[in-house]
Amino acid sequence: MTEASDTVVDVRNDVLEPQDRPVPEGWFDRVRHGEAWRSMFRHPHLDTPRGRALQSFSNVFLHVYPVKVPARVLKVRYSWRLGYIASVLFGVLLATGVYLMFFYTPSVTSAYGDMQQLRTGVGFGQLIRNVHRWSAHLMVLVVILHLVRVFFAGAYKRPRQFNWVLGIVLLAITLGFSFTGYLLPWDQLSYWAVTVGTNLVNYIPVLGDTLRDLLIGGEQIGQATLLRFYALHVAVLPVSLALVLMIHIWRVRKDGFAVKRGGVGAFAEESTDVTPIASVTAVTNVAADGRRVRLLGVVDRESVTAEERLTDDTVFTWPHMLVRHVVVGLGTVAVVLTLGVLFAAPLRGLANPNETPEPAKAPWYFVGLQELLSHFDPLVAGIFVPAGALITLIALPYIDRNPATESRYRKVAITIFSIVLLVALVLTVLGALFRGPGWEFIAPWQHSYLEL
Ligand code: HEM
Repeated sequence: MTEASDTVVDVRNDVLEPQDRPVPEGWFDRVRHGEAWRSMFRHPHLDTPRGRALQSFSNVFLHVYPVKVPARVLKVRYSWRLGYIASVLFGVLLATGVYLMFFYTPSVTSAYGDMQQLRTGVGFGQLIRNVHRWSAHLMVLVVILHLVRVFFAGAYKRPRQFNWVLGIVLLAITLGFSFTGYLLPWDQLSYWAVTVGTNLVNYIPVLGDTLRDLLIGGEQIGQATLLRFYALHVAVLPVSLALVLMIHIWRVRKDGFAVKRGGVGAFAEESTDVTPIASVTAVTNVAADGRRVRLLGVVDRESVTAEERLTDDTVFTWPHMLVRHVVVGLGTVAVVLTLGVLFAAPLRGLANPNETPEPAKAPWYFVGLQELLSHFDPLVAGIFVPAGALITLIALPYIDRNPATESRYRKVAITIFSIVLLVALVLTVLGALFRGPGWEFIAPWQHSYLEL
């Protein structure tokens, strides 16, 4: 029995800390053992399995994680850390967004001026705006990649079907975030991108006009739209994303990480039927007359059992997982900071409803749809295709009944998904890079009309 296990389960330090702990050395140690610190962090500092488990239970941040995770979860290949990176980006967006709110008023008469002021008159204003903008684009990209990774890993299958659905909700909220934020600078780019985007709603049969009115608060984009988009952007969407994300991450724990382990269900190791280890026993004896006699005893196959000793394939979250998350989190922040230092967020001229820029492009994540609209009837390209794609995505885990997660047993699903992905990618690249004034074909090396 360890010294720690003699103690009563109680999170008070006095009870959990061994009484003969070493006298604190150095200022950090002294602070850590002082009353003020211990009143905040009540968990013990025991470096034993039990001590670490108690640290996790009693710390609100560590409590998000399970105490132990399967060792395979630590591998980069498990998730490429994409869900985690998306969460970090959300954190960066919240922090930088609050700073921007200090200097921004959602009014058509002052919004554009506030953006100019941010550039020159506010400490770190330009940098914070850049970081906010690039983090938003990156978050959309990372969330899409996360979805793709979850699909290829087959991680949406039983028992994770509902978490996949929550993921689609998160994707929709992320796109909503980016789209509503796009309008706020109130420049030509934002005004026309949002005009093109919201015009798509017009194509919805019967409800189109009403929905567009509800979204933009009038005939055309104006003060009512700016206020609505602002309210959605700074209140409704962050609260919704935080709530759904909490459930999403909680479900990852409850459904179990999608990594290969023993047991049943998706991701169970392939059945390892144990063949009886013996069915016939042979004994050689020497008889009284000196002849060697061989006795064969037949043993019932069922009565021979092989005991499989399951090895513990889990490791403590703290430090194994947390250290990795800290590194990836810092790396993510470093990337967006670098982007923010190197590239300025665009700010075109003041929004002008009477002057349509050529070409007027939707934000990059909707430009594939815009490209599709140039080839097909608006009802098909603007409504049937996106609505069909959304419904199919939501229903995917319930349609795909194949329990296998390995790609060699999922050829049909993987082929269909890859084709759809490729088509979406080609449409997006075409629309973003190869279209110029009048939606005419133009080579990007001649002139780039890509807007971010
Ligand atoms: C704001 C957007 C999102 C955030 C912040 C997020 C966050 C996370 C995190 C932190 C994990 C844990 C493992 C990992 O890093 O992959 C995870 C897992 C998961 N996510 Fe997301 N997610 C988002 C969107 C989505 C989307 C769009 C989908 C798919 C439609 C999705 C489906 C899943 C599923 C099924 C799992 C469990 C997979 C497993 O256990 O390997 N998530 N998500």
